[in-house]
Amino acid sequence: MALRKIVLQGEECLRKKCRVVTDFNARLHTLLDDMRDTLLDSGGVGLAAPQVGVLRRVCVVMNEDEEIIELVNPEIIAAEGEQTGLEGCLSVPGKYGVVTRPDFVRVRAQDRHGKFFTVEDEGLTARCFCHEIEHLDGHLFVEHTDHLMEGEELEEYIRRMEEEDA
Ligand code: NI
Repeated sequence: MALRKIVLQGEECLRKKCRVVTDFNARLHTLLDDMRDTLLDSGGVGLAAPQVGVLRRVCVVMNEDEEIIELVNPEIIAAEGEQTGLEGCLSVPGKYGVVTRPDFVRVRAQDRHGKFFTVEDEGLTARCFCHEIEHLDGHLFVEHTDHLMEGEELEEYIRRMEEEDA
C-alpha cells in the first residue's frame, strides 16, 4: 500500500491537459493501486491522476456500492437529465459549491489491461464521473460555481437541504 500526496488547487499540474495512456504496464498498475489506496485513505469518492501529480488520463471513482471503478482514457459518451447539488474536491479541501451536472452519464473507458468497457450511473456517481473526467482536461469544479462555501455557511446550507428533503 502506498499513499500519494494529493496536490492542492493552485498547483500547475491541475491546469494541464493529461496525455492518453498507451502503455498498460506495471507502472500504470502501480499508479492505479496507489490511487485506490489514496482515495480510500482520503474518504473521498473520486481521484484523478493529475491530483497526484501524474498527467495521464486515469481516474478512480467509488460508486454507491463502494466499488472502486478504474477508468483509463475515459470519455463521457452519453448524458441525460440534470442535478444540482453540493460538490467538493480533494484538491480544494473544506470548500464546497453548488454545481449542476447531468443526472445520468455513460462512460467508455479502458481497464488497467487496455480492454474497453462502458459503465453508466446516475446521481452522485454520475456527478463524480463528470468531476473526475474534467480533471483530465485541467478543469476544477470551482469553474462551475461563483460561490464556495465552508464552515458555518456550509453547515447551514446542508441543514437547509436536509430539511427540504425531510
Ligand atoms: Ni476533484
